[in-house]
Order: sequence, then structure tokens, then C-alpha cells
Amino acid sequence: MTSQIAPGNGRIIVAPSILSADLWKLGTEVEMVRQAGADWIHVDVMDGHFVPNLSFGPATVKSLKGRAQLPLDVHLMVERPSRFIESFAQAGADLLTVHIEATDDVNEVLLAIKKLGVRTGLSIKPDTDPARIAPFLPQLDLVLVMTVQPGFGGQGFLPNSSAQIQAVRELITKSGRAVYLEVDGGINAQTAREAAQAGANVFVAGNAIFAAENPARALADIRQAAQI
Ligand code: DX5
Ligand code: ZN
Repeated sequence: MTSQIAPGNGRIIVAPSILSADLWKLGTEVEMVRQAGADWIHVDVMDGHFVPNLSFGPATVKSLKGRAQLPLDVHLMVERPSRFIESFAQAGADLLTVHIEATDDVNEVLLAIKKLGVRTGLSIKPDTDPARIAPFLPQLDLVLVMTVQPGFGGQGFLPNSSAQIQAVRELITKSGRAVYLEVDGGINAQTAREAAQAGANVFVAGNAIFAAENPARALADIRQAAQI
């Protein structure tokens, strides 16, 4: 398997989250955001343990693969993610992000993801110390800073988020590696600007795009706000 995602190069990425899509017409929704200029499709996977909600699994990723015509950015909000790496890789994930709080063997999980030819991501929840990311940076293609408590779409961007993003940006800069810095939760044009100023370059948005009266305009507004 070869990931469709190139190493981070500072380009702004907008990744609509299908958690907020109308699942009755998932294909149409994905095609709509693709035509509106989406870069990646963000797929939120929830297990009812790591977060108090359930969502998608490998079958959803498999049904999007190829047809979505965009890289699939899969966010695993699950306990002990090592159990699921292979099935998501086989289903066609281009990037697999696990939570640092969800496993004791972060290194092994990242190695397993890499071995399968998939890009690696590591996420921190809003209350997690960003310094915990540092030892894993040599293995990472992306760091995901949660800007809400994970579990549900439609929440407000947390006020402490900029400090978290800045701290991760400093670590990435120090590492000298091309690592994407993704933000997820409560992202709209206004908060995207704030996150971009703090150092983010990948912007996940669910509600701000799929619940908008004009989703294409909302997506373009987020991209423009992020171009600082
Ligand atoms: C939350 C998910 C997010 C969610 C974001 O746990 O990780 O990806 O879809 O939704 P909004 O953009 O509505 O906050
Ligand atoms: Zn997410």
C-alpha cells in the first residue's frame, strides 16, 4: 500500500469531517466537498470507550477508497489502536492518527502503521502536555492537536488551544522534520485564523462546512483565513 499523502510541505490543507455529513447521501456529500476544493477527507473513528460515542469503522473507509478521489485522513479515537491498524490500512486509509492517551505502546503502533505504507499521526487531547509528543516526532508525519474534547462534532474551539498549537509547532520546528500540524474541533474561518497564527497547517472542519448554507463558500473561507 502506498499513501496518497505527500510529506508536509507547509501547504494549507482543509479536511472536511464526514461526522457532520448527511450519511443518507455520503457519496454526494464527499463529492460536493471535493468539487469545493477539499484536500483530504477526515474520517472520525470512535469506539465508545476512548470517547463516549460511536461512529465509523473500516467498512466506511473501504467504501470511500478510490471513489472519494481524495486522501483519507483517519482519526482513531479508540483504546488500544494496535488492534485495528491492519484493517484500516487494508481498507485504504492514507493516514492513521492514534491518540497518545489511548495506548502504552505508541512506538510499536507507529511502526506498525509505517510498515503498512500508511502515513503516521499522533494526537493529543486538550489537557495533554504537548511535550509528550517530542520522543515520537522522528516517526511522525502529522501531529493532531484536538481543539475540543474528542467525541462529538459541533463544539466550540477551546480557549487554551493556541497555546497547545504553539507548543507543538515549536517541537516540530526543533525536530527539523516535515510534519503536518493538524487542528480538529470547532474550526471555522475565525478559529482557523487563530490556529494558523499559532502554527497549524491542516484544518479539519465538520459542522462549519456540512451544516453551512453554502458549504463551498465555508470551505473557501476557512482556507483563506488560514493563509496568513
Ligand atoms: C471530534 C472529531 C472531529 C469533529 C469535528 O471528536 O474528532 O473531527 O468531526 O467537528 P466540528 O468541526 O463540528 O467541531
Ligand atoms: Zn477528528
